[in-house]
Amino acid sequence: MERIKTLFLLCLVAFTTSVTSRQDNVCFRPQLGDNIEMSGFQRFYSPGEEIALSCKQGYTPVLGPRTIVCIASGEWTTTKLLCIPKRCPYPDQLSNGELDYEDTGYQSKINYTCNEGYTLIGADTAECLANGTWSTSVPECKPVTCGLAPIPQFGMIVYDRRISGNTTEYGDRVTYKCLPPHVVVGDPRAECTASGTWTKTPECQVVTCPLPGNIDRGYVSSNDHRDYDFGETVKYGCTGDYVLEGNLEIVCQQNGKWSEKPSCKAPCSIAIPRGRILYKGRKIWIEDLSPNRVLHKDIVSVYCRDKARNCGYAVPTQCIDGKLKIPDCFEHPSSTEYNLHSSSLPSEITQC
Ligand SMILES: *[C@@H]1O[C@H](CO)[C@@H](O)[C@H](O)[C@H]1NC(C)=O
Ligand SMILES: *[C@@H]1O[C@H](CO)[C@@H](O)[C@H](O)[C@H]1NC(C)=O
Ligand SMILES: *[C@@H]1O[C@H](CO)[C@@H](O)[C@H](O)[C@H]1NC(C)=O
Repeated sequence: MERIKTLFLLCLVAFTTSVTSRQDNVCFRPQLGDNIEMSGFQRFYSPGEEIALSCKQGYTPVLGPRTIVCIASGEWTTTKLLCIPKRCPYPDQLSNGELDYEDTGYQSKINYTCNEGYTLIGADTAECLANGTWSTSVPECKPVTCGLAPIPQFGMIVYDRRISGNTTEYGDRVTYKCLPPHVVVGDPRAECTASGTWTKTPECQVVTCPLPGNIDRGYVSSNDHRDYDFGETVKYGCTGDYVLEGNLEIVCQQNGKWSEKPSCKAPCSIAIPRGRILYKGRKIWIEDLSPNRVLHKDIVSVYCRDKARNCGYAVPTQCIDGKLKIPDCFEHPSSTEYNLHSSSLPSEITQC
């Protein structure tokens, strides 16, 4: 038992001694900061030995010192050396396109894209190299091209800008015209699209409208049984006391149809047998309105009584296509009241 204990102690002493001597004499390979590198592959260094530090490719040293020394305690001297990424210059703008990047440091990337209608010529990405230059030069965004715009039969085109040669660019526009009596059917404008083709070419067609019909209670200025050309017009009128509503004139449109016809609206009679009305700024007795007829859209006022204040007031109403509503407040006077006491009617007493 005693022997075993002695052996154990002896081992412990030997172990302690060996560790102590290492600490006093050597440095281990140092831990380095980000992107810092050193020369050599040694695992141990003796006191006094020096290591030169450098930055990895693409990084620039700042602060210092750039060497560390193994000191007797088995530690390395300290350094504030930092290695920061090299910067590439800010990239130029891309006309008719965009560039995307987050940073301009070593290994940063730029993505180039062109706007719709433009094609990228060159590389669509660039990377910041270790020597602080971009891997590729800024690409170009060239407009998509179209051929010349097609010309329909009997048609002609006018370009918005002067075109030289036989190519046009994205965004170029033209206006179509047709030789009379043809008219443009479709969109008279066309443009060179992002896919390199022109938008739909219109056609040149002769457009006619059939003889336009008459309207109720009206007449038409032309009754020729023929086709009417695009752009021709005819006029309408109304008979008697009918009033024309809408456009007096209609036109033969590009689609071969006439524009909307007007209509004739009926006059109204005023459905009060006795009483006084206000019409066109004049107060007149109904029997003096002869014939009892006002025209469509005319405004007529009848008189109502404010019983509480015993005064009269005019209430307007309008003739709409043969219908003229008598306001509810109007009271039809009896014939006695009308003939003998006409001065007490709402139209004759004090006005409110
Ligand atoms: C560039 O494009 C790639 C692939 O589409 C994408 O993963 C990356 O995030 C883009 N970078 C930037 C800075 O937009
Ligand atoms: C930078 O490095 C790239 C690739 O290694 C090389 O092609 C280019 O010429 C270098 N530029 C400069 C300015 O040294
Ligand atoms: C127009 O296009 C034709 C082929 O479609 C080509 O041969 C010609 O060189 C182009 N340029 C001009 C100015 O005509």
